[in-house]
Amino acid sequence: MPRLCVIPGDGIGQEVIPAAVDVLTAVIPTLETVTAEAGWGTFEKYGVSVPEETLAAIRACGAGLFGAVSSPSRRVTGYRSAILTLRQELELYASIRPVKSWPRVSPKPGIDMIIVRENTEGLYVGRERLEADGDTAVAERLITRKASERIAQKALALMQDQRRQRLTIVHKANVLPLTDGLFRDTVRGVFRKAQWVPGAHDIEVAELLVDVAALKMIAEPEEFDVIITTNLFGDILSDAAAYWGGGLGLAASLNWGDDVALAEPVHGSAPDIAGKGIANPIAAILSGALLVRHRWGLAEAAEKIETAVDHTLADASYTSLATTETITRAVLRHLK
Ligand code: NAD
Ligand code: IPM
Ligand code: MN
Repeated sequence: MPRLCVIPGDGIGQEVIPAAVDVLTAVIPTLETVTAEAGWGTFEKYGVSVPEETLAAIRACGAGLFGAVSSPSRRVTGYRSAILTLRQELELYASIRPVKSWPRVSPKPGIDMIIVRENTEGLYVGRERLEADGDTAVAERLITRKASERIAQKALALMQDQRRQRLTIVHKANVLPLTDGLFRDTVRGVFRKAQWVPGAHDIEVAELLVDVAALKMIAEPEEFDVIITTNLFGDILSDAAAYWGGGLGLAASLNWGDDVALAEPVHGSAPDIAGKGIANPIAAILSGALLVRHRWGLAEAAEKIETAVDHTLADASYTSLATTETITRAVLRHLK
C-alpha cells in the first residue's frame, strides 16, 4: 500500500499540496498519508528548517510530496533552504523535470522534453566563503564521477523505459574543462557502455554548451527530447522550459534517489499570492503524478491524472477557473 509523507511547507505550498493530495487519494483510495513540517516557518518555530522527525517520516514512507519553502536571499545563521537539505540528506540525486505542450495554455505545440538535473552537487554544495579582506567572495563548484555516473544511469533507465531516443548533455566544458569535462565524459561513458548490450534501445547522444542550449530552449524547444545537466544549469533551464508548458503554475518535478522520491512543484512559495486561494494547484498535482508513475510504478493511475489535467485545460471554461479550489474540483471531475 503506497505511503506518502506530505510536507506543505510555506506560502502557497499550504494551498496547493492539500489539493494534490485530494487528487492522489481519488486515484489511489488506499493511499496512506502522514504530514510533516519543513521550511522557514519551521525554522522560526524550532530553529531548524528540516526537523529529524521529518527526515525519518519521509524515509519511512519512501515517498514525499513537498510544496515550497521561503528562503531569504541573505545569509541567516543556521538556516539552509529545506529543499536543499532534503535533497542532500536523502540523496535525491536526480531531479526529473518534464515539460510538454498542454492544450490552450502552451505557447507552442509539439514540445515533449525531460530535463534531468543533477541535484546534489555543482554550485549547490554550499561551499561559499568571504575572504579575510572582506572584498572577495568564493563559491566552489563540485563535480564528481560518482554523482555524474548515477545521474547518467537514472537518465538512461528513464530513456529506456519511455523509449526516448535523443539525449543532449548540457555543459560549459569550454570554460570549465575539468569539472564539466568530467561530467560530460562520464555521462558519455555510461551511454556508450549501454549500447554494447545486445538488443539495446538506440539512443543518440549529443552535447551543447549551456549558452547555446538557452538559445535553443527559446528558439526550438520542440527539438529537445532529454537534457542531462549539472545542478545550476538545470535549475535555470527548467524555469525557462516551464514557459513552454504553460508557466510555473504547471511545472512539475520529482527529486529521485534510490530509495526515496520527493515530488515537488518547480515553483516557490509565491509570497505575492499566498493566502489568496488563487495559486494554480496543477504543478503540485502533476508532481504527484510523477511520484505515482516513477516511485510506485502505477503508470495507469499516473496517466489518469495527466489525462484529467489535459481535459481540464482543454475545456474552454479553464480560464475562468480562477481559484485553487475551482481548478482542483475541475480536475477531480475529469477523473471520473
Ligand atoms: P515563485 O515561484 O514563488 O514565484 C514566481 C512568480 O510565479 C510569482 O509571481 C508567483 O505568484 C507566480 N507563481 C508561482 N507559482 C504559482 C502558482 N502555482 N500559481 C500561480 N502563480 C504562481 O518564485 P520567487 O518569487 O522567486 O520565490 C519566492 C520564494 O520561494 C523565495 O523565498 C524562494 O527562495 C522560494 N522558492 C522555493 C522553491 C522551493 O521550495 N522548491 C522554489 C523556488 C523558489
Ligand atoms: C528549484 C528551486 C530551488 C533550487 C531553490 C528554492 C533552492 O529554485 O527547485 O528549482 O534552486 O533548486
Ligand atoms: Mn528553480
